[in-house]
Amino acid sequence: MKQLYLVANWKSNKTVEEAQNWILQLKFSKKSDNLTIILCAPYTILAVLKYAIGQSQLPISLGAQTVSSFPNGAYTGEISAQMLKGLVEHVIIGHSERRKYFNENDTMLFEKTGQAKLANMKIIYCVENWNMFIPPGVSKIAYEPVTAIGSGKAEDPNTAEDVCRRLKEKHRGIPILYGGSVTSENIVMFLKQPSIDGALVGGASLDALQFAHLVDAVSSYE
Ligand code: PGA
Repeated sequence: MKQLYLVANWKSNKTVEEAQNWILQLKFSKKSDNLTIILCAPYTILAVLKYAIGQSQLPISLGAQTVSSFPNGAYTGEISAQMLKGLVEHVIIGHSERRKYFNENDTMLFEKTGQAKLANMKIIYCVENWNMFIPPGVSKIAYEPVTAIGSGKAEDPNTAEDVCRRLKEKHRGIPILYGGSVTSENIVMFLKQPSIDGALVGGASLDALQFAHLVDAVSSYE
């Protein structure tokens, strides 16, 4: 049985109250032992989520959605990796929305990866094809074709497998995730692919019921 990863990416969504309700409403029937669940949430609700997850004893680790390329210091408004210590174990770096709307380039992403590594964070590094630059030391790679993100049109699982296989060959030993319009209906078709070890889920992770269905779908898949 391969180790599987289900990573939720809430993007710019949810108030403190909405996050608390999501935790209270999240009821999946079972979580298989080979499944790791990671919730990447906005900075503003990480502390609340950490507390709520502890209270509800949920098997969920927390992640941030980006991190500063700078260390602690005079960088007004930035959240450094060191500031996230004790709050999150994971961080997404290189998401296509960060590249597109915030002009994050390879140099900046390399710096961010360096800062995250110094804080012992596990990095989920996003790419849009198999040939993109990936800094050393990342923990997981997420292949997310831009046309599939948020479009409701997931990539064909065989096409995704082709890209993920190339990524796996190039970056040996690193789990490869697929992301882009993943739902509880299509997730198993992706996990069945030999080179896909999990999914990065945006839209379908926002609703607790839908996310519970995702956990159940992954857990009942052998
Ligand atoms: P989506 O987003 O599941 O809403 O397509 C995935 C992502 O951008 O991580």
